[in-house]
Amino acid sequence: MNYHILTLFPEMVLEGLNTSIIGRAVDKGLLSIEAVNIRDYTKEKHGHVDDAPYGGGAGMVMQAAPVCDAYEDLCRKLGKRPRVLYMTPQGRVFNQKIAKELSAEEDLVFLCGHYEGIDERALELIVTDCLSIGDYVLTGGELPAMVMIDCISRLVPGVLNNDVSAEIESFHDNLLEYPQYTRPEVYAGMRVPEVLLSGHHKNIETWRRQQSIKRTLERRPDLLAEANLSKKEQKYLEELRREQKKELSSIFENVLK
Ligand code: ADE
Repeated sequence: MNYHILTLFPEMVLEGLNTSIIGRAVDKGLLSIEAVNIRDYTKEKHGHVDDAPYGGGAGMVMQAAPVCDAYEDLCRKLGKRPRVLYMTPQGRVFNQKIAKELSAEEDLVFLCGHYEGIDERALELIVTDCLSIGDYVLTGGELPAMVMIDCISRLVPGVLNNDVSAEIESFHDNLLEYPQYTRPEVYAGMRVPEVLLSGHHKNIETWRRQQSIKRTLERRPDLLAEANLSKKEQKYLEELRREQKKELSSIFENVLK
């Protein structure tokens, strides 16, 4: 996977990404991360890449030419026109499914805006996908690009030491991950669940699936509509829901007493 980040702050993304697991994957040649400085493409004497908005208003707008020129130069060097992901709170909210889809691409361009955004004509000309990392506004697109690159990279084969874990973790199957424990068996008087010490793989797997279902019901019930559950697991979920209802009605009864 080759990432190309169009930004005014190349050092920010490179320093953030060339460490830990992603940095190691770059060293191994599984990923490449290139930061293209949009400022290198300005034709203005003073190196400006922004100007006041037509029609007035606060802040500055990034000009179309340096952004488009940076992308066109990249395309010439690559000999292809990769997807351009524009980081914006107006985009589709990024999730694991989008990450999976993007991980199949060979090259991805991340376009990071600053100030009051980028001239709309540049966006019309080069952007293929508008993506957000959530309903809040940041000062620029660099952090969202780093979040997405981290998430996509762990789905690239070989990046995690253990390829199965990327699939089993939270959100695979639309279920949250089950609780994990490691040594010692007792900590602060709390024991590791007995089943995990049993060595009985089938029982451990059943327990973990049940814990995932329980956790998802308690913390992110919205995910369950899309979860892939066996008949037995659906029964287990119905049982949990009945218990939840009972608990709720006893709380209400106590309040009304
Ligand atoms: N740029 C500013 N805020 C953003 C957000 N929430 N997601 C993506 N890009 C952004």
